[in-house]
Amino acid sequence: MPDDVFTAPLKRPAHVGEDWLEPKQTEYDSEDDRIWDDLFARQMEILPGRAATAFLEGLERLDLGAGGVPEFGELSESLNKLTGWSVVPVPMLIPDHIFFWHLANRRFPAGNFIRTRETFDYIQEPDVFHDVFGHVPMLTNPVFADYMQEYGRAGWRAMKHNRLKALGALYWYTVEFGLIMEGGKDLRAYGAGILSGPTEAVFSVEAKSPNRIMLNVDRVMRTDYVISDLQPTYFVIESFEDLYRKTVERDFETLYQKLPPSFTYANSAVIDVDNVVNVGTQEYLLRGGRGSSARPV
Ligand SMILES: [Fe+2]
Repeated sequence: MPDDVFTAPLKRPAHVGEDWLEPKQTEYDSEDDRIWDDLFARQMEILPGRAATAFLEGLERLDLGAGGVPEFGELSESLNKLTGWSVVPVPMLIPDHIFFWHLANRRFPAGNFIRTRETFDYIQEPDVFHDVFGHVPMLTNPVFADYMQEYGRAGWRAMKHNRLKALGALYWYTVEFGLIMEGGKDLRAYGAGILSGPTEAVFSVEAKSPNRIMLNVDRVMRTDYVISDLQPTYFVIESFEDLYRKTVERDFETLYQKLPPSFTYANSAVIDVDNVVNVGTQEYLLRGGRGSSARPV
């Protein structure tokens, strides 16, 4: 194993220990709490009929709309009773191996800071709204909760094989931007990157631009992804059991040996092996995407 695999490129801040956990969650002021409430209210206008049932149920069970930024201790107590997970505060960026280690122990590392009014509509770094509102409700689903733990375990194996990029693509196209076909007919979003913002929640399930393709792990792990714009392609699962089977029960050791070190497919590509739900027009992307006047259609 090359030495550099376990060398974090990030410098650990003096106030955090080896586990990178913040000693305590940030204390939020009343404006921070109002920002949470406004973000929450905006998403709730959009998500019914677009978010996965499991996500909406999770939101309700955890009472994330009780008012203000949730307190991680109380949140962890509720979550722990449901699936044995907890939510722990960390600095904005933590090393991959620490992130995997927390997931493997059913701890979800969440950022502390909350966006401001100036960055209300779009922030590139995940804040506490993205991490808690976007990710934590899905952890109330027992199968998804197990998937996340297995993902953490898989992280260590991917590092050993130097295939973190491929595993990162799997996280991207499932945990962050995954869609599910509920009851074989209703397309819904379960990815946190989709559910924590207003535009992609509509775009991902309704727009004509993006491709929607049934999840194929080998294919996804060879597919590039964009981090600063709406996705040209979404991958769809049949159910969370389907996601678990296709990933956790897959022989990753063999797969990693066959995977090239860099991505093979562009993020807008549709290829022969794809089980396609729909081929997108890519109109949004072709008109210039974010930063242009292209509408997310
Ligand atoms: Fe995220």
